[in-house]
Amino acid sequence: MFVLGIETSCDDTAVALVDKNGFVLDSRRWTMDKDHIPFGGIIPERASRNHLDLLVPMIDKMLLDHKLKPSSLRGISVTNRPGLLGSLIVGLVTAKTLALSWNMPFIGVNHLEGHLLSAWLSEDQELKKEMSFPQISLIVSGGHTHLLYIKEFGSYKVLGKTRDDAIGEALDKFSNIVGLGFPGGPKVDEESQKGNPKAFNFPRPMLRDSNYDFSFSGLKAAGARKVEELKEELSNELSINLVQDLCASYLTAGVDVLVSKTKKSLMEYRPKVFSVVGGVSANSLLRNEMKKISSELSIPLLIPDLKYCTDNAAMIAYAGALRIKKGEVSDLGLKPKARSLPKDFSYE
Ligand code: KG4
Ligand code: ZN
Repeated sequence: MFVLGIETSCDDTAVALVDKNGFVLDSRRWTMDKDHIPFGGIIPERASRNHLDLLVPMIDKMLLDHKLKPSSLRGISVTNRPGLLGSLIVGLVTAKTLALSWNMPFIGVNHLEGHLLSAWLSEDQELKKEMSFPQISLIVSGGHTHLLYIKEFGSYKVLGKTRDDAIGEALDKFSNIVGLGFPGGPKVDEESQKGNPKAFNFPRPMLRDSNYDFSFSGLKAAGARKVEELKEELSNELSINLVQDLCASYLTAGVDVLVSKTKKSLMEYRPKVFSVVGGVSANSLLRNEMKKISSELSIPLLIPDLKYCTDNAAMIAYAGALRIKKGEVSDLGLKPKARSLPKDFSYE
């Protein structure tokens, strides 16, 4: 039986049908990037109004395409934290209304737990990836950079996290400054593949610190200073090589820190597997470097298929399916929260 997943925590409207084994029957997403390009970033009010227009028709169409009646669903899973409040409300109210009228359980889940599970999603029922513990997981998204130790499903210990900007945010800002625009991460990824990573020496913040925390504000500031210094050269129409070198050098500095801290945690904890998840796990350099440490240390790496790196509802449906299987349900009083709850992560 499938769980209907609903994800509206940011600017993408997404719906999916997934079972308790992580088998994805369908996963659909409406990306509003085009809507936000003129502003160089996400405008929360526009995002929530778009969710309102898109969400119910997307659910209707998906069920219709599979000739599925609501009565054949196991339940509904929706992101209720963390995220933009106006956007979360649309998904949550829709999930509650459907649960009430279809007479089925619904559950509110943490968006980050969804990302953590995204590496186990598959569209091939035969290809089920076994979930073994303990795991180390690096979440790298637009708003989060968390390194976690996972003892079992639902038990997430934070080994370290960013003290200021997330890596995704540092890439998005840099893309804007260097003139590539929004959405930043994929553009920096593409240009950096044609550039020289040694052209500029950007700082690798907290690389040698003994803890697992990160900090990317210094890298962001150094990137902005360098672009300002090179303003004249960059205004030349033929400056694309310079942009590519800047992107390659900047991205390499960020990836170096992520890879080195992850490697250190793998050597200390020797988990059964490790995963890298969240929007930035789509990055080609990061994926390659993580594959290298996986073979060097002989610890299997699980990394989501590209379509499940960035926000999607399949991961939310899967998180809900596992929680519903454990007997958890939410009540109609559940509220949306801009941040995670204290019970979501432990620090000890
Ligand atoms: O997980 P996600 O879709 O949304 C959040 O939960 O934040 O992550 C979005 C982030 C953005 O910062 C975006 O620029 C980044 O993921 N991203 C990438 C790539 N694709 C998306 N960063 C680097 N390389 C990519 N290919
Ligand atoms: Zn996300």
